[in-house]
Parts: sequence; structure tokens; C-alpha cells
Amino acid sequence: MLELTNVTRRFGANTAVDAVTVSIPQGQMVGVIGRSGAGKSTLLRMINRLIDPSDGSISFGDKQVSAIKGRELRDWQRDCAMIFQQFNLVPRLDVLTNVLLGRLNHRNTILNLLNIFSAEERAQALMALERLGIEQTALQRAGTLSGGQQQRVAIARALMQSPKVILADEPIASLDPLNAKIVMDSLKDINERDGITVVTNLHTLDTARTYCERVIGMFHGKVVFDGPASDLTSDAVKMIYGSTAENEISEAITSTSIKESSETEKAPAMSLASAEIASPA
Ligand SMILES: Nc1ncnc2c1ncn2[C@@H]1O[C@H](COP(=O)(O)OP(=O)(O)O)[C@@H](O)[C@H]1O
Ligand SMILES: [Mg+2]
Repeated sequence: MLELTNVTRRFGANTAVDAVTVSIPQGQMVGVIGRSGAGKSTLLRMINRLIDPSDGSISFGDKQVSAIKGRELRDWQRDCAMIFQQFNLVPRLDVLTNVLLGRLNHRNTILNLLNIFSAEERAQALMALERLGIEQTALQRAGTLSGGQQQRVAIARALMQSPKVILADEPIASLDPLNAKIVMDSLKDINERDGITVVTNLHTLDTARTYCERVIGMFHGKVVFDGPASDLTSDAVKMIYGSTAENEISEAITSTSIKESSETEKAPAMSLASAEIASPA
């Protein structure tokens, strides 16, 4: 169980996250939605301790996540893998090495590490890539891959951490609909088959509805909705996106027609729900 109690984060006079209290049982798939600036990224970053809460506490089982330091904190950050909108791979390194870095994501001197990966770790990394359908890219430089492929590498890297929780911050916001579907399907599969808790910030309502058993809606740092996706009535949606903004609750905010990406691997516009899974190229 991941428990947040009155978690608050201030930046100067601005309260980015305001007294958030939620309990997330192990193995749940949770979508966090809300406008830009609602506090979604700050919330995820506090869970992973990339930033510290100003107030409140975070715990995971017996572990007081918000109080740990040093070795214990590094262990937690390994248990709690992060996936970012911009993938955060090392573009000049090959894909396999990027995945292996999931094993050692707390060290800095990459070159020093290259020869200490065991054959077993390499095999494990290849299996993670295979699971994501991109094992054939193992020896390519990560920077040469399409965005969708890069995000799958990032998920493989997260799997190498053997995490208990995956935190994904708008993992599909830079992807075309087809790749968005592949990435969300992968996260769902990892959630269901491995029992890993997934907490993902999502820009689009439809995606949260399609993939997440539980949706947390944030507005101005506060949780204004917390429940099953089926309870997301239009009133709930107005609370999350702002009651005065009915006209602005447009395609841009709620639809899955994700903005044009600069990817070479373009897919025709289609909704996530209807997108077919192509065999991963
Ligand atoms: N490092 C920071 N320094 C100052 N203000 C920040 C910082 N990070 C986030 N904020 C502010 O906190 C609020 C919430 O931001 P964020 O968590 O990024 O929201 P979201 O991810 O929902 O778009 C915003 O007002 C943002 O400007
Ligand atoms: Mg954000």
C-alpha cells in the first residue's frame, strides 16, 4: 500500500500540491488527470522523492518514504521507477546499455559501468526488450529510434529495476495515437501480469477511462475526484477541468487525438480505443 497523508508542496507562495491524502493498494492502475499546472508532476516527483514534500507524509508498507535518506532512499528510488514524457534515455548509447542502466541508475560515470554488467543482466535486458517488442533495436543508438520505440526502451529500463511501483509522467503526450496505444498497453500488461502498481499522469480523459481502474482528478493542487473511471460524470469532469471552462473542455484537453509529433514513424489519426496494434516494427 502506497499512502499519502496530507502531502503538500509549496513553491514560494504557490501551493503546487495541497494536502493530498490517498491510499493506493499494491497492483492498482491509477490515472492522475487535471489541467496543466494542477500539480500532477509535483505529486509523482514527491512519491519518488525527486522533490521533498513541504508537509505531510508518504509511506509504502512499513517504509516512511518521506523520511528516509541515503542508502534507503536510493533503494526506494529503485523500487519506484519513473517514466517521463521525453523518455530520458542516453541518446548516444545503444539501446541495450540504456536498458542495463536501469540496474544502476544511481551511478553517474557511465563508462565505468560498461564492463560490469553480467551475462545474466544482459540476457535479462534483452528479455525486457523482447517483451516490449523491440529486441531488434538492441544494438542501435537510442537516439536513432522513433519516440514510440524510445518510450518502450524507457519501460524496459524501468522493468530492469524490478520495481514495485511505476510512476509515469504523461508517458504518451509526445507520441502519435498508435504508439500511445502500444505504450499504454505495455504499462497495463506490466500492471496486470507483474502486479506492479502503476500511477500515471495523463493529459487525456479517454486514456484514463480506457486503461485505469481508478482515476484521481486534481485541480489547483487538490484532489477533487477519486474513484472508478465509470464515476467520471460530466459534473466530475467540470470539477477537474474547471467549472467556468466548459467551452475549453475541448478536444485539446480531453480527446485522444494527440498533437502531431515530429516522429518519422507516423500513424494515421485514430482514437486510442479503435487503434489496432500493429506488429511492432
Ligand atoms: N520547480 C518548481 N519551481 C517553482 N514552481 C514549480 C516548480 N515545479 C512546479 N511548479 C509549479 O507548481 C504548480 C504545479 O506544477 P506541476 O506539478 O508541474 O503541474 P502539472 O504536472 O499538473 O502540469 C504549477 O503552478 C507550477 O508552476
Ligand atoms: Mg506535468
